[in-house]
Amino acid sequence: MTDPVPFRPISPGTQPPYDAPAYLGTIKRHPKQKLHPMPQTITETTGPTFLASQFPPLADMTMPTGKPALGERIIVAGTITDENGRPVPHTVIEIWQANAAGRYLHANDQHNAPLDPNFTGCGHTFTDGDGRYRFLTIRPGEYPWRNHYNAWRPAHIHFSVFGPAFATRLVTQMYFPGDPLLAYDPIFNGTADEKARQRLISVFDWETTIPEQSLGYKFDITLAGREATPWETLK
Ligand SMILES: [Fe+2]
Repeated sequence: MTDPVPFRPISPGTQPPYDAPAYLGTIKRHPKQKLHPMPQTITETTGPTFLASQFPPLADMTMPTGKPALGERIIVAGTITDENGRPVPHTVIEIWQANAAGRYLHANDQHNAPLDPNFTGCGHTFTDGDGRYRFLTIRPGEYPWRNHYNAWRPAHIHFSVFGPAFATRLVTQMYFPGDPLLAYDPIFNGTADEKARQRLISVFDWETTIPEQSLGYKFDITLAGREATPWETLK
C-alpha cells in the first residue's frame, strides 16, 4: 500500500470568496451564518454516472440546426488534471455562453442584442483517456449586466466539470487573452491572487488553430490543490 498523498490546502486569495461586495449577486447568495457540515449521503457521493453512449457529445456548437451560427468560429481545448497533475479521463464537461452578439438563449436575458436561431450556446462532451477535451463554438460577445454603472462582462464561457458525483461538480468561467474589460470585472477580480486569476484566461494557441477555419484557445483546468483553477464552488 502506498502512502496517502497529503492534502494540499488552498492558498489564501486563490479562490473567489462567497461574499464579494463588488459583485452584487453574491449579497443574496452567500451564507450569512456559520456553515454546518452536513454528512453526504449515497445520493451525493455515488452518481450520477454519465456515459457517452447515453449522452452523445455536443462538442460542435456552431451548427446545431444544420445552418451555421453567426460569429467567429473558435476552438476551445485543454486538459483536465487533478491536484497531482494526473489527467482526469472520461468525465463530463459542459459549457454555456452568450452568442456572438452577447445574448443568452434564456428567458432571463432580455438584452436587446439579437438572438441567433442557429446557436444555443450550450455544449457538453467527455474528456478522452488522457483528460483532454475540445469544443468548436462561436466567440461569445461581451454583454451589459447592470451590476454597476456601465457594467459589461468581458467575453467568457461558463464551464462545469462534473466528476463522479453531484458532490464533485465544479463551475468556473473562462476568459480571453487581452480583453480590456477584465480589469473592470468584479467576477474575474473576485479571485484576489493575481497568479490564480490568470489561470482563468485562455491562451491563444497555434497548435489548436485550424487554417482558414478557427482560431484555437487552450484552457487547461486543474481541479484542486495549490495550482487549482479558481472555482465558483470550491472554498
Ligand atoms: Fe455569463
